[in-house]
Amino acid sequence: MNIVLFGAPGSGKGTQAEQLCQELNLIHVASGDLFRENLNNETELGKLAQTYMDKGELVPDDVTVAMVKERLSRPDARTGVIFDGFPRTLPQAKALDQVMDEMERRIDGVLYIKVSDEEVVRRLSGRLICRECQTPFHKEFNPFKRCPFNKCEGEYLYQRDDDRPETVRARLKTFHNQTEPLIDYYRQAGLLAEIEGEGEVAEVATRTLAVARGLVQA
Ligand code: AP5
Ligand code: MG
Repeated sequence: MNIVLFGAPGSGKGTQAEQLCQELNLIHVASGDLFRENLNNETELGKLAQTYMDKGELVPDDVTVAMVKERLSRPDARTGVIFDGFPRTLPQAKALDQVMDEMERRIDGVLYIKVSDEEVVRRLSGRLICRECQTPFHKEFNPFKRCPFNKCEGEYLYQRDDDRPETVRARLKTFHNQTEPLIDYYRQAGLLAEIEGEGEVAEVATRTLAVARGLVQA
């Protein structure tokens, strides 16, 4: 099974992906996490991506598609993946269709987690991330000082550079202008499922899992 988690910045894609991967035994493929890994490792790709991420803009399609394609080709991704933050443009969606075709796989569903812009700002102003596994937490809604996962001991949580208020505003604008057109693309393909993304994390998880399990049975 292959699922796309779609939604604005801060809508809860990373939070929900974590839970879905555990329940459905899928691999989490998050383009933003892959860029940040490259950034931490000081690769050329990371340095290039940072120039866009800092401004709340999208990294060019060719670079992004090549990175995701490479991740998909690794053996652990064979059983099925949850795409988080990819695709984000029409050319990326078409490239993904082509890559999946070539691999004789398909997208089973696109889960659109819907939240308002006000909620995004509220969530991102308090978000903290684990430097090692990139799991998102929140100062108020999901409070930890250290990542609770054993493998990540020793590192304190940190605030992402692009969670500054002015960059959040730019990311929201980018989402509305460049990424929202994908809603129609996937609706027309009969793949879109809309999920109310506001409410407790556990409530949203229950809704998301129910839709994902429906795809397994379809
Ligand atoms: P990326 O890392 O993908 O960021 P994003 O899409 O902006 O999404 P976020 O990771 O900020 O939010 P999320 O939806 O995962 O929410 P989370 O679960 O953390 O991309 C970063 C940058 O990389 C982009 O701006 C771009 O430059 C580049 N990039 C990435 N992919 C690209 C692509 N395909 N093409 C081109 N460029 C690309 O939750 C947010 C917070 O809310 C957390 O604190 C969490 O604890 C909390 N929370 C979650 N759910 C709830 C809830 N129900 N109630 C209360 N709090 C909650
Ligand atoms: Mg995320």
